[in-house]
Amino acid sequence: MFDRLKKKWNVNGLQLTLILCTFAIGGSLTGYTARKILGLAEIEPRWLWIIIYILLLTIIWPIAVYLISFPFGQSRFFTRYLKKIAKRFFGSRNHSTESTAASDEVNSGSWNKNPAVSQNLEIAKNAQNHRFIAIFASGTGSNAQKIIDFFRISKTVKIALIVSNKAGAGVLNIAKNENIPSLLIEKDRFFHGDAYIDELNRHNISFIVLAGFLWKVPPNLIMAFKGKIINIHPALLPSYGGKGMYGARVHQAVIDAREKESGITIHYVDEIYDHGKIILQANCPVEEEDTADSLAAKVHALEHLHYPAVIEKLVKNKNCS
Ligand code: GRF
Repeated sequence: MFDRLKKKWNVNGLQLTLILCTFAIGGSLTGYTARKILGLAEIEPRWLWIIIYILLLTIIWPIAVYLISFPFGQSRFFTRYLKKIAKRFFGSRNHSTESTAASDEVNSGSWNKNPAVSQNLEIAKNAQNHRFIAIFASGTGSNAQKIIDFFRISKTVKIALIVSNKAGAGVLNIAKNENIPSLLIEKDRFFHGDAYIDELNRHNISFIVLAGFLWKVPPNLIMAFKGKIINIHPALLPSYGGKGMYGARVHQAVIDAREKESGITIHYVDEIYDHGKIILQANCPVEEEDTADSLAAKVHALEHLHYPAVIEKLVKNKNCS
């Protein structure tokens, strides 16, 4: 259960503990305060007492957990969490159907046409200063999450679309949780014709970020977004790149070769796997005792640190409108 929560909320073990403590203390504080308030007046009959008690709980609970979240350092999480709950209760009348409809759209491989999602898209489009970015990913999406977090309150960059080639990929859950439109692409349509380019244009996407996207980007897409597609690779290119070099395979190859250092490469995407012009590299040491997993963790930390900032710089410097 804890593992499921960690995944769902995209937090580590320590954060999960602090979040659960906040819930527990916030809950107790709510009950205590509501009973104290009710103690100030004699309320009869009993059923009226219960109704007022429940009403008080609903009002006090969000305030209590929000206040408690500060000393536990979890205010960011609870701001989002409470906003989500508020949206669910007070959002537009179409809102409650949003996630179901959104996932239906994802499953059918088409765009989110759900009114609530489209409404969000419209609001975003109207923010004229925003550059719209699409993230393409096939896996868990830890980089996607960091990028979303980084640009959450940005006035210039909006993560407007998550594209994945893999049904059930973690990154699609992230999109759902974050209320970002998502698209599950089909191989045939991706590699033949311009259907998805038209869709990207229709959604005003001006920059594409690959974050663990395992399909090769077809030439027509590269042409359409010339100089505006970047990728991150979990090693120091030009070594340990190319077809089939992804995930643990890369790190194992680095360890097998007894390299003293590895790192990340952020680069433009061209027609060849892991080949385009390098934008940034950052290094980390490879220790004797490192395994593919421990090295992956170091590399991931570097990715999370650098990728969002590099995207921001590039998008600001480029004419991405
Ligand atoms: C990252 O290591 C990235 O370098 C590579 O794919 C991985 C994606 O990881 N291209 P995540 O899904 O973002 O956690």
